Amino acid sequence: MTRSGRPALAVVGATGAVGTVLLQILSQRADVWGEIRLIASPRSAGRKLAVRGEETEVVALTEEAFDGIDVALFDVPDGVAARWAPVAVARGAVVVDNSGAFRMDPEVPLVVPEVNPHTVRMRPRGIVANPNCTTLSMIVAVGALHAEFGLRELVVSSYQAVSGAGHAGVRTLRDQLSLVAGTELGTGPGDVRRVVGDGTGPFTDPVALNVVPWAGSLREDGWSSEEMKVRDESRKILGLPRLPVAVTCVRVPVITTHSLTVHARFEHEVTVDAAREILATAPGVVLYDNPAAGEFPTPADVVGTDPTWVGRVRRALDDPTALELFVCGDNLRKGAALNTAQIAELVAVPDRPRTPAP
Ligand SMILES: NC(=O)c1ccc[n+]([C@@H]2O[C@H](COP(=O)([O-])OP(=O)(O)OC[C@H]3O[C@@H](n4cnc5c(N)ncnc54)[C@H](OP(=O)(O)O)[C@@H]3O)[C@@H](O)[C@H]2O)c1
Repeated sequence: MTRSGRPALAVVGATGAVGTVLLQILSQRADVWGEIRLIASPRSAGRKLAVRGEETEVVALTEEAFDGIDVALFDVPDGVAARWAPVAVARGAVVVDNSGAFRMDPEVPLVVPEVNPHTVRMRPRGIVANPNCTTLSMIVAVGALHAEFGLRELVVSSYQAVSGAGHAGVRTLRDQLSLVAGTELGTGPGDVRRVVGDGTGPFTDPVALNVVPWAGSLREDGWSSEEMKVRDESRKILGLPRLPVAVTCVRVPVITTHSLTVHARFEHEVTVDAAREILATAPGVVLYDNPAAGEFPTPADVVGTDPTWVGRVRRALDDPTALELFVCGDNLRKGAALNTAQIAELVAVPDRPRTPAP
């Protein structure tokens, strides 16, 4: 607790893709924090970053960096979080972790404030996990429909932005776009690959002028780690441990904002009107759905905004119990930084009225 009597916050990974957006969000939201301490690797120690209008020096990740900290937000790779989150807890902080290190630990709640805020109190390890960005980009809308209709099955395809792979993903797409701009590439087999060469960065294939049906690492039976995260994390957040979830994750040449098609099957028949009413009033959701007027969400319009945008709401052609949706969410805001900021506020000031994404 800082001298102001307000809780002290640490941002671990303040220099990264998520950390950068988190500092903007902390500068924009109602300020509940006393000190905000910025932490990154020793490579970044001494750099100055702006938060709440003040230039703040980055300090290196050490045990002492957590002294006096009440809540520590971790936006670092899995291995770094696995090693250092328990250190922060031992020094007295509650950790809100954005990596994949603790999400499926039964003693760590996986929290989306609009869907399962009550679980934040059950944190025997002193750690609260933030879901992965693909799940987060749809779960607020799906959770609102589940609360009313009772979800029975999900079939999902993602169209994931390159910033989901951090600064390295963004650099890779920008470099590739500069190589292909103004050329006639994309007309013959392998021509983009020949020009891009080894410059595929964190991706398996060229992402400029391309669509890549792969995100993450290989898991059993041909599934990707990202696909397993969407299934396992959706089940945990919704409290539906046996929910059937079929998912295919695809990387597309978008800088920021993940999109998903969602086929959601419910207990009973559903109507589009009832679904639209729920989505139009759900906190953190914007219904933008008028195809006759060309209105549906796209990443180009959604990027930089907080809510989950939903369009193309239809009843499934062959199943009156199912709905089809197209969902977009900024993967760095609600998909990462905003959700961690909301969780941190729930931890630090549990009785404060919640501010959902507007
Ligand atoms: N990008 C997304 O859409 C997204 C969404 C949800 C969750 N996440 C998760 O959030 C975490 C951060 O992702 P990102 O996209 O922001 O990655 P990023 O752009 O690569 O940034 C990584 C951050 O971690 C710091 N770091 C790396 N190694 C470190 C070490 N040994 N000690 C201390 N700090 C270290 C880096 O500091 P330096 O600058 O000093 O190297 C940097 O601040 C990852 O676990 C990722 O899976 C990302």
